[in-house]
Amino acid sequence: MQIKIITVVGARPNFMKAAPIVRAIGKHNAQAGRPEIIHLLVHTGQHYDEVMSEQFFVDLQLPKPDVFLGVGSSSHGAQTADMLKSLEEVLMRERPSAVIVVGDVNSTVAAALAAAKLPSGLNSGRTLVAHVESGLRSFDRSMPEEINRIVTDHLADILFVTEKSGLENLRREGIAPERIFFVGNTMIDTLLAFKDRADESPVLHHLGLCNLTTQDESRNSVLPYALLTLHRPSNVDEANALRNILQGVSELAQQLPIIFPAHPRTRKRIDQFGFGDYFHLDTSENRNTIHLVNPLGYLDFLCLMKNARLVLTDSGGIQEETTCLGVPCVTIRENTERPITVERGTNVTAGTSVAGIRQAIGQQMYRQGQASIPEKWDGRAAQRIVRILQSTLSGKCEGPGGRYPVVRSRSPEVSRTS
Ligand code: UD1
Repeated sequence: MQIKIITVVGARPNFMKAAPIVRAIGKHNAQAGRPEIIHLLVHTGQHYDEVMSEQFFVDLQLPKPDVFLGVGSSSHGAQTADMLKSLEEVLMRERPSAVIVVGDVNSTVAAALAAAKLPSGLNSGRTLVAHVESGLRSFDRSMPEEINRIVTDHLADILFVTEKSGLENLRREGIAPERIFFVGNTMIDTLLAFKDRADESPVLHHLGLCNLTTQDESRNSVLPYALLTLHRPSNVDEANALRNILQGVSELAQQLPIIFPAHPRTRKRIDQFGFGDYFHLDTSENRNTIHLVNPLGYLDFLCLMKNARLVLTDSGGIQEETTCLGVPCVTIRENTERPITVERGTNVTAGTSVAGIRQAIGQQMYRQGQASIPEKWDGRAAQRIVRILQSTLSGKCEGPGGRYPVVRSRSPEVSRTS
């Protein structure tokens, strides 16, 4: 039986979460000796710049999207509505058995809603929604991503969870356990697949972070530096909040250079608030300061993360990646939806005050001891996902009101809720 699956991506963090799934589907078909799963990749165009989107397709060896919707930037409501309308047209035309949505961005919730409300076709059953990275909760509804996570999880038919807190959160919200699968983390699949290749990146050399002139020799002579990312609306859209964070971070810059690949949203705010004095733009001069640089591709950024003394961030995914790499991380937020990175990993949440950031940096700069890798962050999450989808979708059977998925007995490796 042939199955059609559509994966929807749209914003930067989606690409590394979807890439291993696309690859695992290809592998599944190769092993089956025929295209058992027809797969289409749809890009909403939420992120559209070369640096926010195209470079990731190159770095991650992702095929060009089959459909590009080109929605671009606007307010949350307008952006989500544009995606919903365009996605509905694609789904009506293609009639997939399932739509895979990843993460917690506006593209995720728009695709989940479009798929969940798709009317059943005459000869096809209901389209199922599969959410990759289900169950994470910051319990902070002022974050747009928290709203996206909650809505998407409650629309989804199949929920793929990355860490055990996700299982508890979904259970507490009354989601049927037989729809929840603890599979691991596809973002970590990508990290493990590309970790060695990132060593070939010339970025350390370009940023003047190594002493020697040839790239090969430079591996042994990386200078100490910290890496900073900031893009949460609550951190960057308000002048006082952004000033506090930059002040807290500037104190560290007196000890070692900080590399800051700024997200377009953040760059705009820095210009708008006149905060240029916090930065130094010439990275060839290795002064201890905050070096503002353009957003980087996946491999360059991974290379910088691997070699950093310390990472400071308000991103979700970077908390997980630094845990896996064993690099100390200071999360500039009041909370995290990824508690495993604090319990078992290298992460601390600092809050957003100058004092909180200063204290967390002090603690992390001299951190002792190794982090332990969270359960199932082993590079095989995508493989588990494809196996579950294949067995669930090929087990669809006729019921009185249409077709229902039969959730088959679990394979030993894929524990559901415990
Ligand atoms: C989005 C996600 C966030 C994710 C982040 C990663 C939501 C609600 N937020 O936030 O969870 O961590 O992506 O980057 O979906 N812009 C460009 N070029 C682009 C894309 C955006 O210049 O290619 C600028 C636009 O001016 C836009 C602003 O960045 O207004 C914000 O983009 P948007 O997609 O709305 O949200 P992000 O802040 O990127």
